[in-house]
Amino acid sequence: MMLAVWVPLLLPFLAVPLARRLADALPPRAAAWTLAGSAAVLAGGTLCSLGLLAAAGVATVPLPIDERGARTGELARHRDVRTALLTPAHQFPTGGPLHPGRRAAVVDWARGRGGLVLEDDYDGEFRYDRQPVGALQGLDPERVVYLGSTSKSLSPALRLGWMVLPDHLVDRVLAAKGEREGWASALDQLTLAEFIDSGGYDRHVRRMRRQYRDRRDRLVAALAARAPHVEVSGIAAGLHAVLRLEPGTERSVLKAAAYRGLAVEGLADYRHPAIGEELMPAADGLVVGYATPPDHAYQAALAALCDILPPCG
Ligand SMILES: Cc1ncc(COP(=O)(O)O)c(C=O)c1O
Repeated sequence: MMLAVWVPLLLPFLAVPLARRLADALPPRAAAWTLAGSAAVLAGGTLCSLGLLAAAGVATVPLPIDERGARTGELARHRDVRTALLTPAHQFPTGGPLHPGRRAAVVDWARGRGGLVLEDDYDGEFRYDRQPVGALQGLDPERVVYLGSTSKSLSPALRLGWMVLPDHLVDRVLAAKGEREGWASALDQLTLAEFIDSGGYDRHVRRMRRQYRDRRDRLVAALAARAPHVEVSGIAAGLHAVLRLEPGTERSVLKAAAYRGLAVEGLADYRHPAIGEELMPAADGLVVGYATPPDHAYQAALAALCDILPPCG
């Protein structure tokens, strides 16, 4: 009975901006400290996960992204890297699945290097226009750690996620997690288990998928009507879209957004500080999470977003 109240009450918390949710992404799933000593690679990079990894003593090098996802071929250049943190199902933040050739290549790389791939499937429940992408973990369960989360499907406030680990890592991860942060609430876990067993979680995800698709469509329609020159990408899945901006305009658009009370982020916020222009040219853009506003405020948020976008040319 409690669940009927519990889920709708939690939904507004989906409004927390992407980067702040990511800031907590690694500790609850005990990833960072199991890697201490090795160097992890972040595709695209986000400031929050970089900070977490650095605090855990993990050096990082950037892995550039293009329209086929993370350029996994670049891994071979880094002799000291043994771990790759990727978002293969939905490249973060730009969108799109990792190209099949690169999926196979990164698993081969992990085998050859005796390394690990961390598969961060942060929004796998929300696919709209294409079939779900199979988990990379299925290609080699000994070399790929699958990471899932309730942060998008229920609420980032829950702090519940899951890892599918190779046998040889289970004890190390459990020990690290126990030492560093104690255990996730048993009550929350049991409630979630009951929610899943009862079929309620599935029904909830299906309903939210329809609602988010509708929001996504309204965002695309608003842009087509009021800012047709703005290219929007990464919309086939997930809860955010990327709006491309003219070079040099990102900062001023972000200022205008803040002035209008819109919590959007710029692509620059997700750029690994060590990545150079020769590897990945800077691109101006907005990362817009459309699950954020409550229903009654969504139309006004869309109008404000269109207002702040610079006119064509
Ligand atoms: C790239 C990425 N990974 C993971 C997560 C989820 O992290 P957590 O489960 O710690 O909230 C998010 C949430 O926004 C994300 O954007």
